Amino acid sequence: MLAPVEICSDGRLELSDAVKLALVDHCGAIIIDAPPVNALSAAVRRGIFESVRAANADTAVRAIVIACAGRTFIAGADITEFGKPPQPPALNEVITAIESSSKPVIAAIHGTALGGGIELTLGCHFRVAVKDAKLGLPEVKLGLLPGAGGTQRLSRAVGPEFGVKMIVTGEPIGAPEALDHGLIDEIVEGPAADGAIAFAKKVVAEQRPLRLLRNDDSKLVAAKADRSLFTAAAAAATRKNRGMNAPLACAEAVSWTLDTPFDEALKKEREAFLKLVADDQSKAQRHAFFAEREAVKVRDVPDGVKPRPVGRVAIIGAGTMGGGIAMSFANSGIPVTLIETGEEQLTRGLGMMQKNWDATAARGGIPADEPTKRMALIDGKVGIENVGDADLVIEAVFETMAIKKEVFTAIDAHARPGAVLATNTSYLDINEIAAVTSRPQDVLGMHFFSPANIMKLCEVVRAKQTASDALLTATMLAKRIRKTPVVVGVCHGFVGNRMLAVRGLQGEALLKSGALPEQVDAVLTRFGFSMGPFAMGDLAGLDIGWRSRQDRGIRWDIADAICEAGRLGQKTSKGYYRYEPGSRAPIPDPEVEQLIDGTCKRLGLTRRAIGDQEILERMIYPMINEGARILEEKIAARPGDIDVIWLHGYGWPIHRGGPMFYADLVGLKTIVERLEFYARSLNEPALRPTALLARLAGEGASFASLNTATNPG
Ligand code: 3HC
Ligand code: NAI
Repeated sequence: MLAPVEICSDGRLELSDAVKLALVDHCGAIIIDAPPVNALSAAVRRGIFESVRAANADTAVRAIVIACAGRTFIAGADITEFGKPPQPPALNEVITAIESSSKPVIAAIHGTALGGGIELTLGCHFRVAVKDAKLGLPEVKLGLLPGAGGTQRLSRAVGPEFGVKMIVTGEPIGAPEALDHGLIDEIVEGPAADGAIAFAKKVVAEQRPLRLLRNDDSKLVAAKADRSLFTAAAAAATRKNRGMNAPLACAEAVSWTLDTPFDEALKKEREAFLKLVADDQSKAQRHAFFAEREAVKVRDVPDGVKPRPVGRVAIIGAGTMGGGIAMSFANSGIPVTLIETGEEQLTRGLGMMQKNWDATAARGGIPADEPTKRMALIDGKVGIENVGDADLVIEAVFETMAIKKEVFTAIDAHARPGAVLATNTSYLDINEIAAVTSRPQDVLGMHFFSPANIMKLCEVVRAKQTASDALLTATMLAKRIRKTPVVVGVCHGFVGNRMLAVRGLQGEALLKSGALPEQVDAVLTRFGFSMGPFAMGDLAGLDIGWRSRQDRGIRWDIADAICEAGRLGQKTSKGYYRYEPGSRAPIPDPEVEQLIDGTCKRLGLTRRAIGDQEILERMIYPMINEGARILEEKIAARPGDIDVIWLHGYGWPIHRGGPMFYADLVGLKTIVERLEFYARSLNEPALRPTALLARLAGEGASFASLNTATNPG
């Protein structure tokens, strides 16, 4: 990256393995090299601190550049250090040392400069970035606020209105936008460090004054004069906080730029940061961060096994799921053969995709020419004989075993040897599907979620005979299309839908006990779900579950009575709720209460008033119990994997970390006691705690202690 390195002072200064200082063209170049993401560990902080001091003391140095080796500029504080005893120097001290430098300090940004990384650059006198760099303060996504002056200095760099938006959403911006808002001073060509050195030379030659953001209130003037400018921006940014503490804390901290002296605000920011670090919400979000990164690792694949190359994908079925899956591949530039039974179905499927992309382009989500480019990657065909040139085939036809078997027999006849053959089935036995082919080692599940072009989760289902390299191919490919793959084993509904079914059954039981749909939904939305299960059922259509229960000879008294009354959900303007024409807003309906009452009377059940805590426990603890059973059966490898599935497939609120993390927070002993209580009082032996849950609770252990297991299979 850097031009030939001259030696600083009396030798290249190696401050630690992670940070080096070299003299290049009269610039002290501080190079941070701490893979994978140059996080600000104690060693990195110490290295920067010492380098700034050494460069200031060296008369040969006229300016200082801070740059990073590897794929990115500093991606933030080292998250693994949170909650551990702090080690000096603190990041604030490092930033103060930079700010106090008598020689200009220039940050050289490439990759993704995030969190503490950006805060460090805000202490520099100047910032330059390469064009494709991204800059952001994502602390809020970890349940935190920027804790090293970010709330105060960013607002002074970009103005408090834009600052509050960046900090509360945590979304990074690109270098051009950063330049527009004054977050950086210049976009440089080529390696960031070289560009920064060229910029440093200009600063020195022109004797530019050193800009200290802490002293520069110019961008605060308007909002100080009219505070409503800020409060409107803060209100817009925090509108959808869903019970999370961090977004509100972020907005409040930014507001201090308007009324609190800088140093006092920095102290308050630090206190607020430490309070959030200790908060369960942040612990949950940090757990989710690491669980996501663990889940995508397929750890028990023998050394040397490589994924198979995939250049083209064939998708069979252009319905709700097939279309969405095809879009996900095209969104990542991967060509797709989309196969249907007839021209009419194909045209309808392709039309839906075009409409969807057009709508995104109209909203400004993608450039106007993208829909055409993406459609060009989709080759629509009639007939399964067209799978021949695909390296991966994904079947997304109707959820009927006989049809799946017919389709896999045809795929087997036409797919090229070595192609990975995946089914998107929600519930069916993939071993049975694999058995109709001559190559069960190539067959697995790739269970995407609806809408498949949006939802991140993909359960990658390993069947009995699935080969390791086929499994690796599917998970790597899912990652390539920016999904979160989680490896699971075969059972009815795999992990997510199996637990969802347990929750559904408890919802039905609660209605029989005396709760109403709106009461149950309100408890779960207050918990943090964006929608309650009954409103969700209405949205998806109640007939799907009804049909599936009929197929399996199962009766759910209330749910079936609702469907029998012609209430199939939003599509019939009534389900568990009623809907005004053209509106999706659920309205509680006295008719539903009568239906529930009538059904219960017929069954001889007495309904009673149910409290919110009982609703929460009866909806969530049985799911946790099922999660434990899933772990016992090795259908999921780690409790963290189950959490990731619920976070990315079912809208589990991120600040609650996932069901298994939540169980640890509540305490497994409490969960066991409450499950035993409900099993007894409701006469429902199925609610009794599983052996694993009971054992962990008995040992005073947690699910977290199991998070190191390997993948199922
Ligand atoms: N601290 C410690 N480890 C980190 C880390 C961090 N800030 N960021 C990433 N890592 C680790 C990951 O756990 C992963 O480890 P693994 O290989 O052992 O699983 C590895 O780095 C690579 O990470 P990704 O798989 O996520 O790599 P990508 O290339 O997909 O993404 C990234 C890179 C965009 C930097 C992404 O890792 C990311 O978003 N990181 C978190 C950034 C962040 O939240 N920063 C703010 C931290 S809080 C803070 O700065 C507080 C301050 O205000 C005081
Ligand atoms: P859908 O009914 O919308 O689409 C199925 C499509 O497959 C139809 O367009 C049909 O014409 C086509 N098809 C049927 N037989 C075919 C054949 N022999 N060759 C080519 N095309 C054929 O169904 P949907 O909802 O997309 O579901 C598909 C699969 O995905 C099912 O297994 C379902 O369980 C699963 N799934 C569905 C989810 C959902 O929310 N809809 C979520 C996750 C999985």
